[in-house]
Amino acid sequence: MVTVNETGGAAGRLAGRACVVTGAASGIGKAVAERFAREGASVVATDVDAAGLRRLADRLPHAVSTVVGDVSVDRDARRMVEAAVERHGRLDVLVANAGVLPLMEVTEATAEDWDRVMAVDGRGMFLTCKYAIQTMAAQERPGGAVVCVSSISGEAGQRGQAVYGPAKFVASGITKHLAVEWADRGIRVNAVAPGTITTERVARLRGEPGGAEYLAGIERLHPMGRLGTPAEVAAAVLFLASDDASFVTGAVLPVDGGYLAQ
Ligand SMILES: NC(=O)c1ccc[n+]([C@@H]2O[C@H](COP(=O)([O-])OP(=O)(O)OC[C@H]3O[C@@H](n4cnc5c(N)ncnc54)[C@H](O)[C@@H]3O)[C@@H](O)[C@H]2O)c1
Repeated sequence: MVTVNETGGAAGRLAGRACVVTGAASGIGKAVAERFAREGASVVATDVDAAGLRRLADRLPHAVSTVVGDVSVDRDARRMVEAAVERHGRLDVLVANAGVLPLMEVTEATAEDWDRVMAVDGRGMFLTCKYAIQTMAAQERPGGAVVCVSSISGEAGQRGQAVYGPAKFVASGITKHLAVEWADRGIRVNAVAPGTITTERVARLRGEPGGAEYLAGIERLHPMGRLGTPAEVAAAVLFLASDDASFVTGAVLPVDGGYLAQ
């Protein structure tokens, strides 16, 4: 029998689950929030971009509520997790996705660039994981799943990623450490490592001078000869967040058209 959830679709792989997605106003985070909503989840979408969050929640009013906040600020990260408990009674899934992605060589980068990326992509991931796991461990039915969004830059060296790349190694690293720390307490922690993905920003590059040539070069670096889509990353995040991955923890799953296999 097919049951119907509030979004009007068939009850899905996250039916009844309370999920927090950070950085949900655009790109990969938005695609994750949309997919989770289609799969029956109640999604708390969080971001610094209030207008982007509003557009998402207006499209999916029964499945998505929002929290405007900065993951690198302790009280904001805590508020994102608390919102799930206040609104839905528990927290089942955290997708730690929010990030900034500056591309520069080490000689161009300043200490301030380093601190900014580490604050959002590093400390922000630490804080949201910390409060999510604290909540998952203490709830009446303990347990949950965390999915961190790392990158191919968090698994291998690349040109022009002297600041961003090391921050994504934090994402891959925290995934493995937290997975081992919490495995025997019912909390799974995994990551996806996307290759280059056609988010709104990357798609806009095509229309900019030199952008098409730049993107063609990047496409050639991916063995499948194309870039990935936010929906393809969201599908992998869904797998790791769902019960289909019940014996998977500490994994960093490439979603990269073969990039890391080279
Ligand atoms: N686009 C790619 O090619 C690609 C590849 C690999 C990994 N990633 C990772 O995917 C994640 C999402 O990136 P994206 O490409 O979708 O970028 P994006 O810029 O489209 O989305 C990032 C979102 O995070 C939000 N954000 C930024 N700083 C924040 C903060 N301090 N607190 C809360 N929200 C904040 C932004 O407002 C934005 O909505 C990042 O962690 C990035 O490292 C992206």
